[in-house]
Amino acid sequence: MIEARNVTKFFSVVNDDRTADGTTAVLSVSLSIPDGRFVSFLGPSGCGKSTFLEILAGLQAPTEGEVWIDGRRVLEPLPATRKEMEAYRRKYRFLSPIANSVFRDKPKHDIAMIFQDYAVFPWMTALQNVVFTLKLRGAPRGERRALALRYLARVGLAGAESKYPAQLSGGMRQRLAIARALSVEPSIILMDEPFAAVDLQTRERLQEDLVRLWGDTGKTIVLVTHDLDEAVYLSDEIVVFSPGPGTVRNRLAVDVPRPRRRTDPALRELRARLAAIYRYDQEHASESGEI
Ligand SMILES: Nc1ncnc2c1ncn2[C@@H]1O[C@H](COP(=O)(O)OP(=O)(O)OP(=O)(O)O)[C@@H](O)[C@H]1O
Ligand SMILES: [Mg+2]
Repeated sequence: MIEARNVTKFFSVVNDDRTADGTTAVLSVSLSIPDGRFVSFLGPSGCGKSTFLEILAGLQAPTEGEVWIDGRRVLEPLPATRKEMEAYRRKYRFLSPIANSVFRDKPKHDIAMIFQDYAVFPWMTALQNVVFTLKLRGAPRGERRALALRYLARVGLAGAESKYPAQLSGGMRQRLAIARALSVEPSIILMDEPFAAVDLQTRERLQEDLVRLWGDTGKTIVLVTHDLDEAVYLSDEIVVFSPGPGTVRNRLAVDVPRPRRRTDPALRELRARLAAIYRYDQEHASESGEI
């Protein structure tokens, strides 16, 4: 269970003329996401979706509020290696009892995050990319290759192991990013517009792969997207953010049984409702944002 309690993020910016300005990127968001759910965050550009996602992952600290995952407070990404673990323990040694409950666990990421652009290392082959992640995770040396091959096969990349990212198509690169995220064996995968850069046909195939993977593994998935069709097709629930500063505008449950058909009238109707919310917000926004 992911729980955000009153999360606010304020960025202060110093202008060229030395005056100070600030942006509230996320305003007082409280949200809980039960285990195994597929939740999408939808909202106009600049409304704070990426910032909020990074706060959930512990990659940014909120200005106010807290994030808890499975009863543990997210302070920063959990250590993935023994070295990181020792540094983490030193840093938080005064923070009992929360810290103590964190330290009792073996070093392991609970969360994997997939960014839109830099999810893979261009100088490593597909296989090396996954092996490297497994190495960080502390998988035994002798098992890494076999494990990596298994994760690659799972996302349909068997046969492309020795290719470099530049030799892969955009869709294949996204699959590689997903294989890397899976190899961390996280319980939660956070994805920031993972399919925005690929063509429609590839995007639909990747969406279907993702639904299948999610069904097989039971992970919690949080997906940031601009794509209304993607949100209604994939999600159990859609959280609509208001134009910045990001607050939760609506939460819509998608109670359509799976497997779904994209042409399902219930999905179409939901999509129309979302489009209406967007239009309304655009017309009433003090400064209009791109969608
Ligand atoms: N490091 C930063 N310093 C200052 N302002 C920032 C910083 N990061 C984000 N912001 C501001 O916070 C607001 C939210 O940004 P964020 O990237 O979270 O939006 P988003 O909803 O992900 O947008 P998009 O859909 O375009 O990706 C924006 O106004 C942005 O300019
Ligand atoms: Mg973003």
